[in-house]
Amino acid sequence: MAELLQGWKRTHYCAEPAQESVGKEVLLMGWVDSWRNLGSLIFIGLRDRTGVMQVVFDESTIDKKVFELAETLRSEYVIAVKGKLLERTPNMVNENMKTGKYELVATELKVLNESQTPPIYITDDLNVQEQIRLKYRYLDLRRPCMQNILMLRSKIAQIARNYFTNNGFVEIETPMLTKSTPEGARDYLVPSRVHQGTFYALPQSPQQFKQLLMLAGYDRYIQIARCFRDEDLRADRQPEFTQIDLEMSFVEEEDVMRVNEGFIAKLLKDTLDYDVQLPLRRITWQDAMDRYGSDKPDTRFGLELVNISDLVADCGFKVFTGALEMGGSVRLIKVDGGASKLTRKEIDALGEFVKTYKAKGLAWMKLNPDGIQSPIAKFLTEEQMNAIIARAEAKEGDILFFVADKNDVVYASLGALRLEIAKKLDLIDKSKFDLLWVVDFPLLEWNEDENRYQAMHHPFTSPKDEDLDMLETEPGKVRAKAYDMVMNGNEIGGGSIRIHSSELQERMFKALGFTKESAWARFGYLLEAFKYGTPPHGGLAYGLDRLVMLIAGTNNIRDVIAFPKVQNASCLMTEAPSEVDEKQLKELGIKIDIQE
Ligand code: AMO
Ligand code: AMP
Repeated sequence: MAELLQGWKRTHYCAEPAQESVGKEVLLMGWVDSWRNLGSLIFIGLRDRTGVMQVVFDESTIDKKVFELAETLRSEYVIAVKGKLLERTPNMVNENMKTGKYELVATELKVLNESQTPPIYITDDLNVQEQIRLKYRYLDLRRPCMQNILMLRSKIAQIARNYFTNNGFVEIETPMLTKSTPEGARDYLVPSRVHQGTFYALPQSPQQFKQLLMLAGYDRYIQIARCFRDEDLRADRQPEFTQIDLEMSFVEEEDVMRVNEGFIAKLLKDTLDYDVQLPLRRITWQDAMDRYGSDKPDTRFGLELVNISDLVADCGFKVFTGALEMGGSVRLIKVDGGASKLTRKEIDALGEFVKTYKAKGLAWMKLNPDGIQSPIAKFLTEEQMNAIIARAEAKEGDILFFVADKNDVVYASLGALRLEIAKKLDLIDKSKFDLLWVVDFPLLEWNEDENRYQAMHHPFTSPKDEDLDMLETEPGKVRAKAYDMVMNGNEIGGGSIRIHSSELQERMFKALGFTKESAWARFGYLLEAFKYGTPPHGGLAYGLDRLVMLIAGTNNIRDVIAFPKVQNASCLMTEAPSEVDEKQLKELGIKIDIQE
């Protein structure tokens, strides 16, 4: 039975009434969070997105019909209650509830809708598989913790809009149906009906459009933009996600960074009342790799990498010398007091852990009170051992972990090991927001599979002025005018100053292995556009989802997206993607040809 409102108007949200409403008539609407029938008294916890209010139906004072109706209430029924707000007697006050000092003594009731027993409890301490939560996402989203996150997300988007528009940015929408261009990930394609056999691509980011808007004179652009990337999903990645995307004209790196420092400081102040120290620290990409093994370093703890390649260049351990002969390196991290904290079994587990980052092994050295213990001690002279200990600034009780390999494997495995050990030994101060810029990225990186250079950021990023001459001769050494903002070891945003001359853009495409013809075929409109007065420009985009994750304190990106996809890119609630009618395919001129 679903009753109609028939003129009933809500006077407050459930957790809204306070002292000034005491003694007055209040009309609330919401869901039955809890119900207790004590015979002559019925207590209902009435919930909406603001919280819960206790409602009392007292048989001795209320209309008999209303009381009988109240007896039928069950969890998740949708009701409207009229009553008088009263203060609870002191012994009934519930300090844990926002409305714990009050209760609504009901006089009238409408059951607006009934509910079947929900398949999951509407409670924060829910203990079910995430699959079930996602299948019944609308119920999962009814839980207060989820509602708080989505309301926080809305607030963050609002702060971004206000901050940037107050700083002269213009909000402009760019198309969702656009042209396929490579920006690292695979495109999502949309078949065209009108032009059979051709496809739109969903944007991986508004990158090219925002650059064209600079050319068009809009000067400062902002958009909260949905982006689509068909890539392998991880805990911090979704196939569709949202960027706070911006671009500015007549600027250099400093200008873009300054505006964004102002934003992040305002954001953390307004959401968590956290004071960010400005200016943010900066670290070059090379230093970040050498010290933390990562281009998004978490610097809330030490465990820095130490390069000992020169010290072991002629040691007796073939694994070390072999790595150096390949052009690789040998590096270590030192764990203070780790010799006694980590058991042999745990050390072996860490050895397995680094293998997932392609390391072939993990050598270690314990500085025990009774001497050095290490599977590689036999390969090292006392002199070499002492030199390593001195370089690592190690002392009795410490343990050293070594990886020898190609540089990228050493960085990836020790970088990950750092984080793993910090988590394991609880070395991270969770109350801190560790913010920094990583700057001076390489412009290009070598793609071994395709045997060519590819843009590290994207093909529109400008080389550093002082490195320009090397673009043809030593492309691997050219640094970019690129910057990433990193928070607690997460890349929350990235951007760059762009190339604004068509000549340099053509040189860049050439360095990426495009012929003039193939570059024009793909990016002709952009190369053409660059000829008509392009101002110097640059920008940045934040991952909104990641920002919300960090501010909400969750490490699951699905928790901050109302209707997310799972690992295999499907939606468990709607069961998308799904097959379509033969008729739809015919209109599009598409035949399915699935290869087993
Ligand atoms: P980039 O590719 O670095 O830059 O993306 C910017 C930010 O978006 C977030 N992000 C993601 N979040 C969730 N799921 C994903 N799959 C995902 N991929 C990226 C990250 C990242 O820092 N056009 C450029 C920006 C620019 O140069 O102005 C761009 O898209 O937090
Ligand atoms: P082995 O002589 O093969 O038993 O190796 C001795 C130690 O070196 C073991 O602890 C291995 O885990 C470690 N080890 C093997 N390969 C590497 C490598 N590439 N980098 C660092 N340590 C390694």
